[in-house]
Amino acid sequence: MAQLLGDWKRDRRCAELGLEDVGQAFTLMGWVDRVRNMGGLLFVWLRDRSGIIQLVCDERHLDQATYQQAERLRQEYVLAVRGTVTRREAGAVNDKLRTGAIELQVKELKLLNEAATPPIYTDDGVEENEAVRLKYRYLDLRRPSMQRMLQLRSKTVNAIRGHMIAEGFVEVETPIMTKSTPEGARDFLVPSRLHPGKFYALPQSPQIYKQLLMLSGLDRYFQFAKCFRDEDSRADRQPEFTQLDLEMSFVNPADVQAVVEGAFAAVFDQVKGRPLPLPLPRMTWQEAMDSYGSDKPDLRFDMKISQLSDWAQGCGFSIFERAVDSGGIVCALKAPGAAAALSRKEMDALGEYVKTYHVKGLAWLALNQDGSQRSSFAKFITDDKMGQLLQRMDVQPGDALFMIADKKPTALVAMGQLRVKLGYQLGLVDEGRDELLWVTEFPLLEWNEEAQRFTAAHHPFTSPMEEDFHLMEEHPEQVRAKAYDLVYNGVEMGSGSIRIHSSDLQERMFRLLGFTHEEAWERFGFLLEAFKYGTPPHGGFAFGIDRLMMLLIGTDSLRDVIAFPKVQNASCLMMETPSTVSEEQLRQLHLKLL
Ligand code: AMO
Repeated sequence: MAQLLGDWKRDRRCAELGLEDVGQAFTLMGWVDRVRNMGGLLFVWLRDRSGIIQLVCDERHLDQATYQQAERLRQEYVLAVRGTVTRREAGAVNDKLRTGAIELQVKELKLLNEAATPPIYTDDGVEENEAVRLKYRYLDLRRPSMQRMLQLRSKTVNAIRGHMIAEGFVEVETPIMTKSTPEGARDFLVPSRLHPGKFYALPQSPQIYKQLLMLSGLDRYFQFAKCFRDEDSRADRQPEFTQLDLEMSFVNPADVQAVVEGAFAAVFDQVKGRPLPLPLPRMTWQEAMDSYGSDKPDLRFDMKISQLSDWAQGCGFSIFERAVDSGGIVCALKAPGAAAALSRKEMDALGEYVKTYHVKGLAWLALNQDGSQRSSFAKFITDDKMGQLLQRMDVQPGDALFMIADKKPTALVAMGQLRVKLGYQLGLVDEGRDELLWVTEFPLLEWNEEAQRFTAAHHPFTSPMEEDFHLMEEHPEQVRAKAYDLVYNGVEMGSGSIRIHSSDLQERMFRLLGFTHEEAWERFGFLLEAFKYGTPPHGGFAFGIDRLMMLLIGTDSLRDVIAFPKVQNASCLMMETPSTVSEEQLRQLHLKLL
């Protein structure tokens, strides 16, 4: 039977006690982690969010009723105890517990609540099926690692908030019930009861509001913003996630980047306990694509992609020659040590892997330690050309060389994916390293094959680079944007840009995106209207707090860093959402199900 707390007050958390407390009396509260009954002597591990302490219930020193109550304790019962801290005997010290040198000799005990046998183990050492863990997330969160994660997340958010406030940013909350925002995903909609047939959209980001706040004269805004995007979930994407969102007036990209760098440095300092060297390196988008085949290069290992189209001309291998003749490229990647590490079968598997990135195949060459070669294409190449290739790529015994011939972006992207795969496969990725960088000068537009028109690569409010204004109508595909991404160990952490702040340029941009004047006004009329009233030059950034936590914790799933995450199909296994609603609710919302 559950007892009441009465006038008992907790003095400390369990693992906050140490040798310095020996001889003193404390009241502790928590959950029973485990019980060992030695007959007349009970060892009970009491757990709270700080950790575990061992309680000793000795029949000789307790009245009978209290001892009998202690004997009834089971795992996860909720308990309050009063007792005295003692030093454990030398042989009984438990190095695995932070409090392993002490224990609490129980004098009084209150059983605050009983607990049914939990359906999952909540020890870190025990693997449990993830679906079951998520169904019982409230129990799963009892795992020490999950407790640590939640505390670390709170500390991270705090470090960032402290930095933003110190930099003169004002925290503003913007609406959740709003209008569609143009981040490129599908919206989650909320039907209106008071306006039949009308819907609110949940924000994909506070983009428009934060730009309007600059117009209002707020100068520096930030918010930990909940964003909602109805897109296919992946390990690094949730339908509902949190951004640190910021916007600043009268700035250029370097000003925005400096604030973001400062926020990351604060997190490194206060959470990771090590400095982040600033400023972070910068690389243009073009350079990132050419050298790493990715707009989010993982710089924890070398291996740059080389373009060998000039060498490929007249090399004798028709696949290479044809690719170059038809305007494509031949690119190569040298993998140090891969000749010895990879079998023929593994080389072939890599060939299949790159094909999933829409290239026709992978040519490879392995230079064995004894100088002999294995290769999928050497027989087609003249000795002279082969010599040039090995020299130019500085292929040493033990190395392997991979080559792809295809259309330019396709070949580079496939090679970039191969680079990352090989980085892990060959153990080249130094997982202890933190490599952050800015990727800048993104293209303004992307060609959408399906819609047969350009779409904004970032969003339609991003400013083109002044140097490229003249290309906007003639060569829109060549226009670079004042847009920048922050990349952390090959993961896109965040994006931002300097915005268009004049309605003329904004309308020009909408035209490039294929909106008529009327369509642009219909969708973004309030913004175009607002822009008329004295908009300052402004720019901003947003980075994913969940993604940042993923990297700080060292996991590759957002589900590990969100208290109550959704699974792949956007459902919550614990609350069983989404769920059906009553006929009455549907009627009030003027909705009929098909
Ligand atoms: P963007 O759409 O690039 O930019 O988003 C910024 C960052 O938010 C995180 N993120 C996500 N995290 C988890 N799950 C998702 N589904 C998800 N989608 C995005 C990523 C991403 O880099 N308004 C602009 C920013 C700006 O221009 O100021 C924006 O939202 O870490």
